[in-house]
Amino acid sequence: MNKTWLLFICLLIGQHCVCCHGLPVDAQKDDYQNDPDYDSYDDEIDEGDTGVVDVTEDVDPQYSPPYFEKTDLRIEAKPGDNVVLNCDARNFQLNNAVMWYKKEQIIASGQSAISPRVEGMKNNSILLKHVTPEDSDEYYCEILPQKVQQHTTLRVGARLSILCDDRDVTDRSQTFRQGDHHTLECRTYLPGNATIKWSFNDISGQQYTVEHQNGVIVLDSVDEKNAGFYQCLADDGSRDPPHGTVHIDVQYMPLVSTHRHHVNTEKGATAELYCDYRAKPIGRSYFIKDGKSLQISEKYSFKDSMHKAHNRTTLIVRDVMDSDLGEYLCHVENSIGSNEVKVQVSYDPETPQFESETIEGNKVTLHWLVRSRQPLSEAMLNYLLTASQKWSTVAMLQTRRHNNTDNIWKITHQMELNSGVWHARVKTKNTHGWSQFSKEHIFTVQDGFSKEGEYETDQPSDMDLPPGEIMQAGIGPVGRGAASAIRQLNLGGVLLAALLLRIRL
Ligand SMILES: *[C@@H]1O[C@H](CO)[C@@H](O)[C@H](O)[C@H]1NC(C)=O
Ligand SMILES: *[C@@H]1O[C@H](CO)[C@@H](O)[C@H](O)[C@H]1NC(C)=O
Ligand SMILES: *[C@@H]1O[C@H](CO)[C@@H](O)[C@H](O)[C@H]1NC(C)=O
Ligand SMILES: *[C@@H]1O[C@H](CO)[C@@H](O)[C@H](O)[C@H]1NC(C)=O
Repeated sequence: MNKTWLLFICLLIGQHCVCCHGLPVDAQKDDYQNDPDYDSYDDEIDEGDTGVVDVTEDVDPQYSPPYFEKTDLRIEAKPGDNVVLNCDARNFQLNNAVMWYKKEQIIASGQSAISPRVEGMKNNSILLKHVTPEDSDEYYCEILPQKVQQHTTLRVGARLSILCDDRDVTDRSQTFRQGDHHTLECRTYLPGNATIKWSFNDISGQQYTVEHQNGVIVLDSVDEKNAGFYQCLADDGSRDPPHGTVHIDVQYMPLVSTHRHHVNTEKGATAELYCDYRAKPIGRSYFIKDGKSLQISEKYSFKDSMHKAHNRTTLIVRDVMDSDLGEYLCHVENSIGSNEVKVQVSYDPETPQFESETIEGNKVTLHWLVRSRQPLSEAMLNYLLTASQKWSTVAMLQTRRHNNTDNIWKITHQMELNSGVWHARVKTKNTHGWSQFSKEHIFTVQDGFSKEGEYETDQPSDMDLPPGEIMQAGIGPVGRGAASAIRQLNLGGVLLAALLLRIRL
């Protein structure tokens, strides 16, 4: 007796036999022997054994054996389709039974499906629901006892599909975690040669072409920048080439920043500290001082706001005292991770921010903005020609107190420089102390300006500056790079002039 017959008998016995498919006959017997539940069937199987022989011999000669008009079928399906595989035998008799196989694995016997994805049907067909490319295989149905077979090759795949880590994700959305590794593959089922083209639109809509190896994109250590729409197009020379997209969402740990790392304040004032962050899923922010997470109190309150590219939590510190000075941490966390940014609160001026420049010939005017509640008493400008070693310094001495309720100061400095690429930075002092140096501002003075008198009609760019607020600048120790500036000063100009004034923003 062979395996098929045993299975056929199992079929007749009913559902209990579902367990036994695919096992070698000996193994099945062992199982039965070991499992008391099956003891009662032993006899029936033995009886069946003899019956089998009878059935084969007793095929009524008046019936012709079952046969198939076609023994090899092909079915093309798209991922997600429900596919019916037919087993349409001629001369199918009551004593016939049907077995369905995928490769050599039994997937259904008669109408009882053995594989969970398969549904048996009354007419011996089977239904495969929501097929995926993994269902592409050789299937056959076999009519017992004559063992005639019909083979069906199932091919699942749109003309083009996008697989993410081998799952079909064509025209769908996927969520990745930061740091994970994934592959996107564009697979085509086209008869000819088609050129695979991948493109990527990031969240801002910017489009890029993407490098790939035989249609495969490897995303190593996924990052926020990988989020967006990926499109694959199989350029087969036709007017409507097959294409598909996949939308990739990336979950990432918070990115935290502040536009004011140093916050200037004064005794009795209210200080605001800003914490800007982006995160997916949404992040939760805390402010920490001296190792303690700050809670709402008379001293502290918090304000959350949404901006275009980030969310912001503002910490408001009321009635500042010396003990409120120092380092604050803004800590933001989500399920992926956490990050933080430091904010220093002090009475010193904030770090100057470069605002704008005008370069006319070799005359350069630079503007910075500084916040300080306390009056600024001094400013210092450093500049240097790229490739030189030493900063030249211009100390801008000032004594004047300005009348304004706003706390933003504008520093303007004008000088003449030789052609070249220059770096400049400033720091300022208030009644309490010095600020940090600003970030270096880099600018280029073009060659070829030597005509005398060329600048006579030039006006300072800040025409609206009240003349009373222009201050004479002093000059500190200078390096070689300043040669031109010194010459101009000797000519009697007020070329090294610093304008220090408060403006409204
Ligand atoms: C069997 O039944 C299914 C569902 O009713 C049908 O789609 C299929 O065409 C039938 N097969 C044959 C060979 O008639
Ligand atoms: C496919 O491309 C190869 C190489 O470019 C070429 O030799 C072959 O003829 C092409 N086949 C078809 C069907 O276009
Ligand atoms: C900002 O917060 C809102 C909810 O308060 C959230 O939906 C959004 O994703 C957040 N934006 C960023 C960039 O984290
Ligand atoms: C000085 O400040 C006060 C109050 O802010 C204002 O009323 C006054 O007009 C200002 N004076 C000048 C000259 O700007």
